[in-house]
Amino acid sequence: MTLAGRELSTIVLAAGEGTRMRSRIPKMLHRIAGRTLVEHAVRAVAALSPGHLVAVTGHGREEVGAHLTELGERIGARVETAVQEQQLGTGHAVACGLAALPEDLTGTVVVTYGDVPLLDTATIEELLTEHTERGNAVTALSAVVPDPTGYGRIVRESGAVTGIVEHKDANAEQRGIQEINAGVYAFDLALLRWALGQLSTENVQGELYLPDVLSIARAQGRSVGALVCADPWQVEGVNDRAQLATLGAEYNRRLVRTALLGGVTMTDPSTVWLDAEAELGRDVLVEPNVQLRGRTVVGEGATVGPDTTLNSVRIGAGASVVRTHGTDAVIGDGAEVGPFAYLRPGSELGEQGKIGAYVEVKDSSIGAGTKVPHLSYIGGATIGEHSNIGAASVMANYDGTNKHRTVVGSHVRMGSDNMYVAPVTVGDGAYSGAGAVIREDVPPGALAVSGGPQRNIEGWVAKKRPGTAAAKAAEAAQASADSNDQE
Ligand code: UD1
Ligand code: MG
Repeated sequence: MTLAGRELSTIVLAAGEGTRMRSRIPKMLHRIAGRTLVEHAVRAVAALSPGHLVAVTGHGREEVGAHLTELGERIGARVETAVQEQQLGTGHAVACGLAALPEDLTGTVVVTYGDVPLLDTATIEELLTEHTERGNAVTALSAVVPDPTGYGRIVRESGAVTGIVEHKDANAEQRGIQEINAGVYAFDLALLRWALGQLSTENVQGELYLPDVLSIARAQGRSVGALVCADPWQVEGVNDRAQLATLGAEYNRRLVRTALLGGVTMTDPSTVWLDAEAELGRDVLVEPNVQLRGRTVVGEGATVGPDTTLNSVRIGAGASVVRTHGTDAVIGDGAEVGPFAYLRPGSELGEQGKIGAYVEVKDSSIGAGTKVPHLSYIGGATIGEHSNIGAASVMANYDGTNKHRTVVGSHVRMGSDNMYVAPVTVGDGAYSGAGAVIREDVPPGALAVSGGPQRNIEGWVAKKRPGTAAAKAAEAAQASADSNDQE
């Protein structure tokens, strides 16, 4: 993007350690609504289509760097990384970021933090508009908060911004200021480059403070300003897990509200958790205690929940998914799933199909109108259309070394408690008896039965289990039958 013919560059500061997270994982890689903190930050600036997007990494740079490369490919943005070897302050971090830009580049540079996940593109655009319209050299984003402890304060004289003072360096009067520095700025790039060279470490923390650029610019007679962000959530950063949870909950509230306003009904919105990438169609009904993670897409008029967790599951229009746990699965239009279904990766259910109670499915496709209604394991199977798999059936697809597939045709009626020993194929229109062990292919239209005829060995319990409760019950039943015969 060019602003009045001047190029826009963006720098995301993501070098901090995040000690207070008490984590093995770099802070930037902790997640809110399915996206890492740094992904939220990168997406917010990437949407401005800047000429350059630089992320400054430091702590955990290998992991964060690899994540940024993958992210850039995924969202189609070129993310350049600059390394800040030692965290000498925000001013130093930005200097490291600038080193990644061409030396003769001018224009505007926006600086944001990698750990401020709710900041959105619209707010940065407002900051840029203010910056450009006022002809400022620096415009900081600020917010008025009830408890400004810890933040840098915006110092104004007769309304005009004169500088920013860090909490630790502030006097009692300055600590009373409730307008805080968000840490998000628009800078004139040439001015910033020069001013960073003027920073000193003469402050309580002995760091190179980026906010000092405001007073330096002002001393040069350049105009500086601050834009108050009306939504303080957008400037909140994550320093510990409590803040991660609080911001995560707020982000979720916003996603839920967007879904509600988009035509989704929720019985109890406070118990619904959505990821940023979840998509819900119109007239979807979400019952209580539902988590829709990853790229879960719910078609129009479908019902999800209660008590359902889905990760990247696609649900067709009008389908119903009740008390289900699913990952990387596809559910067709009008299909029914649950209650108590477990859909593992690669499960596909066709239109109007059914996966019923206590059924686990993995790496299998179940055709349109086909039903697996009760207590079954369907693994490594391809099942045609309008077939019925009897209750308590198992597709034994693993021989201990290799996995094999079970193929079942269309309009098949299989009996209850069947065991499919893969690889095996059942032809179209075939039937099977109860308890069949399907070891061999069943031709189309055949009835498969297995096991010998039933034999009853009379008196076995009395002989082999004498004195047991079973033996006594059998004896009593026999006595009663005998006396009935005599009457
Ligand atoms: C900073 C601001 C403060 C503002 C606050 C808003 C300074 C000196 N102060 O304070 O005015 O109110 O943010 O949250 O800038 N970082 C690096 N390298 C460094 C230091 C920091 O990359 O050497 C990154 C961190 O990863 C983090 C961000 O910069 O994302 C802010 O750093 P942090 O130390 O949290 O700044 P604050 O002291 O909170
Ligand atoms: Mg700090």
